[in-house]
Amino acid sequence: MTGKTVRVNVGKGYDVIIENGILNACGKILREVIGNGRAAIITDSNVSKLYLQTVFNTLKNENIDCESFIFEAGEQSKNISTLSEILEFLAEKQFVRSDTVIALGGGVTGDMAGFAAAVYLRGIKFIQIPTTLLAAVDSSVGGKTAIDLCAGKNLAGAFKQPEAVICDPEVFSTLPPKEFANGMAETIKYGVLFSEDLFDSFNNNTTPDQLCEMIEKCVSFKARTVEHDEFDNGERKLLNLGHTIGHAIEKCSNFTVSHGYAVAAGMAMIARASEALKTAKEGTAKRIEAVLKKYSLPTDFDFTSDELTSAALSDKKRSGNKITLVLPTGIGECILKDEPIEKLEEYIKLGKENN
Ligand code: NAD
Ligand code: GLY
Repeated sequence: MTGKTVRVNVGKGYDVIIENGILNACGKILREVIGNGRAAIITDSNVSKLYLQTVFNTLKNENIDCESFIFEAGEQSKNISTLSEILEFLAEKQFVRSDTVIALGGGVTGDMAGFAAAVYLRGIKFIQIPTTLLAAVDSSVGGKTAIDLCAGKNLAGAFKQPEAVICDPEVFSTLPPKEFANGMAETIKYGVLFSEDLFDSFNNNTTPDQLCEMIEKCVSFKARTVEHDEFDNGERKLLNLGHTIGHAIEKCSNFTVSHGYAVAAGMAMIARASEALKTAKEGTAKRIEAVLKKYSLPTDFDFTSDELTSAALSDKKRSGNKITLVLPTGIGECILKDEPIEKLEEYIKLGKENN
């Protein structure tokens, strides 16, 4: 099967190229963006051992001069001190505004390298090469970049669209199963949000071609959403399905629960609450729980409603006395609802599994 390309029509627009094996053969695409400039590859300590040499070789074949910066893998690195090291590295290696940053890795790498590209010399070009399923279907597309602050996750960042996204699903073969499941949580999210057909196709036994197709569908849904609302003032908030409670779970666990697992449980909880309040069709929550369980994803956590409510209320997505919730009304259909913040506790209580 040939690869898939999704065009994202934001700013001057860019392509998301999804193709098995493309990592070995992406020189021409890289050359088109990098032109006669140099490239700075930002990657983490796990991904560098697996894929840095491949990207080096590809650049070398195109006679593109490059340098690499490797940071310790994990969310704990997505902070101001690693960002500062990346910026100092770019300056020390004398990268100029016509050069390009390449993010090779998962969402942590993409978010941080993207932010560095947004602020270094007031902005230089940026390419995303996602190596986790989560990054492929979500974080590499749409231009949100960020680092975490002591006060919370993703509290400092910028909107910075990449020049291109190159996604080779073959690299997911080296992902630990838990990381693949993490990405499936965000993938399932697109099914709940936009497409019952996509939702019904999740079977935990995906062939490489089916994986490409699944990623293409998710990226297309994300692209269309971001095209309508690049700066997250309306429709894009739909992509936060499961995230209000999910972020609260991450926070309550002191970030030992990963993003996808937290979003999975957040999605199941908001679906149960939505059904209890008759916003969602009967049976919606059970169907979501069943698909999450296929991938061993959680549908609840042991934190109390009080703990989750206070963590959720400290989230940056709250605006004044209102909070925008994403509520499933069925499979493939969700709505945005502004609720007074006092109502959040009721949703969380109704969302707990024992309700
Ligand atoms: P991650 O980047 O930390 O990757 C997870 C783990 O997998 C890491 O240990 C990494 O080294 C390893 N890894 C990556 N690719 C691998 C491969 N092919 N083989 C083996 N190991 C590999 O985390 P993530 O789950 O990709 O992303 C989570 C981050 O993304 C969070 O910080 C979250 O806030 C952010 N995020 C951002 C957006 C956005 O729109 N910008 C959307 C969703 C999530
Ligand atoms: N991951 C949510 C967004 O990009 O808006």
